[in-house]
Amino acid sequence: MAQEVRGVIAPGKNEPVRIETIVVPDPGPGEAVVKVQACGVCHTDLHYKQGGINDDFPFLLGHEASGVVESVGEGVTDVAPGDFVILNWRAVCGNCRACRRGRPWYCFATHNAEQKMTLASTGQELSPALGIGAFAEKTLVAAGQCTKVDPAASPAVAGLLGCGVMAGIGAAINTGNVGRGDSVAVIGCGGVGDAAIAGSLLAGAEKIIAVDIDDRKLTTAKKIGATHTVNSRETDPVEAIRELTGGFGADVVIEAVGRPETYQQAFYARDLAGTVVLVGVPTPDMKLELPLLDVFGRGGSLKSSWYGDCLPSRDFPMLINLYLQGRLDLEAFVTETIALDDVEKAFERMHAGDVLRSVVTL
Ligand code: APR
Ligand code: ZN
Ligand code: ZN
Repeated sequence: MAQEVRGVIAPGKNEPVRIETIVVPDPGPGEAVVKVQACGVCHTDLHYKQGGINDDFPFLLGHEASGVVESVGEGVTDVAPGDFVILNWRAVCGNCRACRRGRPWYCFATHNAEQKMTLASTGQELSPALGIGAFAEKTLVAAGQCTKVDPAASPAVAGLLGCGVMAGIGAAINTGNVGRGDSVAVIGCGGVGDAAIAGSLLAGAEKIIAVDIDDRKLTTAKKIGATHTVNSRETDPVEAIRELTGGFGADVVIEAVGRPETYQQAFYARDLAGTVVLVGVPTPDMKLELPLLDVFGRGGSLKSSWYGDCLPSRDFPMLINLYLQGRLDLEAFVTETIALDDVEKAFERMHAGDVLRSVVTL
């Protein structure tokens, strides 16, 4: 039987979000209904609300979530009712050209639930943020979006791996391939940049240079594992990073802002044959200008990181286990836990740069 639950809706462009009753259908073939336990507030939710992603209002927001599987549809074998799961927004298909070549983290045909959740009042179909929609007591997803992890993990912490924290850790360990003894610079130390710092620490980087324009962010970055900090409002970050790396530049520079000027800084702050990883998401109007000769002459690789190039089934359980062993401080990313009614306020705090992550707990 379809169920009615409370969820946070973005009704129209730039309108405040509000709680509505939503209808969650029973899971169909390949689907699962998840009782949400926690869901982080991410910039992408705000972008949906502002109409920056698409115009498919109303949106059911929320996508950095963990919870317990309540029921599964026909043919679902990977997860079962009662499993503690982190939701991912890239359920791999197993069949596309990337999957077939053994690179499922690039899957070009990821999927979501087929059925739609609807507004109880009008019957209108909802567009769940990133195919998840987890600012709700329950949500309907594709079973492949559920990744089982150790239930000993706190739900608020686990949920964060579903988006921003995974993007940052993965930018370092998957895309940037940071290794033992490497020097790493991270430009932009919000939730994503700080997670890149945590990932670099985990991977054995020797020097981790945090760059931001906000001293509060640099203080947190240091707590998470940065060995050096640079305020790029006061100091030229390229010069500073070179100085801190024997005059050469860092082996890996991770751009976690998503702007042309910070990308240029990343490009010139890396050593010859080094790696630049772009994990910050630019807007459609942004353009990059670089001397092509420098692109050639400096060698190395310029990479983008989609969702940390993660494979949820491989990375989520592993990172949760490292956290449970005390080797990855995921608690540091939860600035506050809030109620479902507080999402609008959390957007304001996020906008003001006051939080790494506000997490709705249910
Ligand atoms: N130079 C250095 N740091 C900057 C600059 C700049 N020019 N402009 C902004 N920053 C810093 C901010 O001070 C902040 O600490 O970048 C950080 C961005 O952090 P958040 O706004 O918290 O964003 P976050 O969630 O970390 O995401 C970063 O990754 O996934 C993408 O869409 C996301 O583009 C965004 C980026
Ligand atoms: Zn695929
Ligand atoms: Zn997100």
